[in-house]
Amino acid sequence: MKDYSFYLLETLISETDLQNRISELGAEISRDYRDSDDLLLVCILRGAVIFLTDLSRKITVPHAMDFMAISSYGAGNRSSSGVVRITMDLITNISNKDVLIVEDIIDSGNTLSYVMELLLTRKPKSLNVCALLDKSERREVEVPIRYTGFKIPNKFVYGYGLDLDEYYRNLPFIGVVDLTKYEG
Ligand code: IMP
Ligand code: MG
Repeated sequence: MKDYSFYLLETLISETDLQNRISELGAEISRDYRDSDDLLLVCILRGAVIFLTDLSRKITVPHAMDFMAISSYGAGNRSSSGVVRITMDLITNISNKDVLIVEDIIDSGNTLSYVMELLLTRKPKSLNVCALLDKSERREVEVPIRYTGFKIPNKFVYGYGLDLDEYYRNLPFIGVVDLTKYEG
């Protein structure tokens, strides 16, 4: 794999802008959940893991975290097909907990809609979503996003948790992929 800079068309969101916005989201979540005594952050692997760890450290109310992995059957990494399945489930029993799903990006909305329906059957006390990025132009299924980091245009992005063939999740910023150099 080449250096990340080979595929970089432009920086979409800088490290400073990401961190500032995450601090704001952390403050807002801390206010909204100040009376909760059972807050659980649910990280959707793998894309949301970097966001989760930064966001969690900006949330001042006590909370737990758990992880689940989802795959979109038959899809490349640019979008999901609508057929979604769980490849790794939560360990925590979420019944009667205030659950906040933490996602990297909402594109068609298929992944999130599936996860929300599934988690609702487990009777949490509340269920909300915090998404770092919202590519709303591409929405196929309406999903309620309580906290949004940034609305972004319909461009293929990487970095800060989002990968190109599993690489570059560690980049501290969000970049736009140069599609003349990456076939995906
Ligand atoms: P949805 O089910 O179409 O909303 O797809 C959401 C998932 O697609 C995200 O969790 C990402 O894994 C992936 N995805 C969508 N857009 C991008 C992108 O621009 N870069 C990397 N992954 C993306
Ligand atoms: Mg994802």
